[in-house]
Amino acid sequence: MNSNPDPHSSFPRHVAIIMDGNGRWARRRLMPRLEGHRHGAKSVRRAVEFCRRNGIEFLTLYAFSTENWQRPPSEVSGLMKLLSQFIDSELDEIHANDIRLRTIGQLDRLPASVVEKIRTAVEKTSKNKAMVLNIALSYGGRQDIVNAALKITQELKSGALEASAVTEEIFSKYLDTAGMPDPDLLIRTGGEMRLSNFLSWQSAYSELYFSAVLWPDFDDNEFMAAIQEFRSRQRRFGMISEQIEAGERAY
Ligand code: FPP
Repeated sequence: MNSNPDPHSSFPRHVAIIMDGNGRWARRRLMPRLEGHRHGAKSVRRAVEFCRRNGIEFLTLYAFSTENWQRPPSEVSGLMKLLSQFIDSELDEIHANDIRLRTIGQLDRLPASVVEKIRTAVEKTSKNKAMVLNIALSYGGRQDIVNAALKITQELKSGALEASAVTEEIFSKYLDTAGMPDPDLLIRTGGEMRLSNFLSWQSAYSELYFSAVLWPDFDDNEFMAAIQEFRSRQRRFGMISEQIEAGERAY
């Protein structure tokens, strides 16, 4: 059990979420799938507020995976529209709350108007300090690793980097999440128990939390339940309990 009762030190610094279940939420109500995504966007707002209020510094949301391009074109364009509307309606409040917006993934694959809107929002909030809202768009964990390997290969070829310098720490600087700590807690809603190509490298030591609740219904109480579960676990990073209790850290 976690022997540290300090509520702040046991709060995760970085939470990552696979927001699953929007489609089922809609189907159960005999609504179109997009209506589920619309309610999912409300849940996004609630999760951001929760993190900001509780001092969680990084929130990474899986909004669109590389595989999601295979969905029906009407759903893809509906999701792009929702994203655009989300920026329009939330940006001022995000900025006023000192939240920095970031994205990971192949942003350029999105429609040009959405890319432009996101770039402007990222730029506008780039100096904000209280929290990072990191949205994964056209993101794939394996793609992220391959891209990092390609960038490193270029630098090895040009002589900017020496092969002996490529440690895990250096490698992670070439990932889309460069500069962010790895997620402490990774939540998946909607009942499935897999990671679906999300943050494959970065989640190596994340605590995993699977909730049966569908994303539009994932409210503050559900989020707090995930946090409580996280607090009850002891993260050993490959060490033994006595080392953790003595305050040693792997890295
Ligand atoms: C998975 O549910 C959800 C998505 C692929 C999209 C997530 C998008 C949002 C929450 C709304 C927009 C996002 C932002 C950041 C404003 P699913 O459709 O796979 O659900 P199902 O498994 O029940 O079909």
